[in-house]
Amino acid sequence: MMAASDRPRILAMAGSMREQSFNRKLLRHAAGVAVEAGAEVDVVELRELALPLYDGDLEAASGLPPEAVAFQERIARAHGLLLACPEYNNSIPGVFKNAIDWASRPPGNPFPGKVAALLGASTGGAGAMRAVLHLRQVLTSRNVWVVPAQATVPHAAQAFDESGVLTDSSAQKQVAAAVEQLLQQIGRMGAG
Ligand code: FNR
Repeated sequence: MMAASDRPRILAMAGSMREQSFNRKLLRHAAGVAVEAGAEVDVVELRELALPLYDGDLEAASGLPPEAVAFQERIARAHGLLLACPEYNNSIPGVFKNAIDWASRPPGNPFPGKVAALLGASTGGAGAMRAVLHLRQVLTSRNVWVVPAQATVPHAAQAFDESGVLTDSSAQKQVAAAVEQLLQQIGRMGAG
């Protein structure tokens, strides 16, 4: 068995505050796959971060709010990020982008050198693909190594059973590939 210190540490987060969020359900499945493969997973709840809206005047007057620093520190402790992104108006939900924007601010910006795998579920036919591609662009701009494999789940209301378990076999395969690449890339980079 791997010692705790040797296990890849993954921060897992869904970009939705909704209790019944399909993205949270998708993330839960992916986190389970990562744990099965030997990873340690820290699940971050967007609502619990309690981040204010980004405000450059607030930052200039008093620096980063403690909630933003705490989020940066949580990201910093992880080797890799597993992110499930909803799609709003063909892009990343503002509340999720707001969290990323706070986390990206100096001096504690933890993103450079991290590895990420992206997931997305939407009730529409594109499976949050457009939002996931935008998120890929955002993270790449912060020097995050985003693995090529990603999981996008269209018509999300049909992809989970009534207890929230992912039943769509195509989505399960995509998640498995994305998590596998995430862990492989962390291993290659000795990411820290
Ligand atoms: C949506 N939804 C949506 N779906 C989609 O496939 N493409 C889109 O562009 C949008 N746009 C959009 C805008 C806004 C403001 C809302 C509230 C919703 C529907 C969206 O996929 C659905 O609400 C999901 O259930 C959101 O993800 P969670 O909260 O279930 O994780």
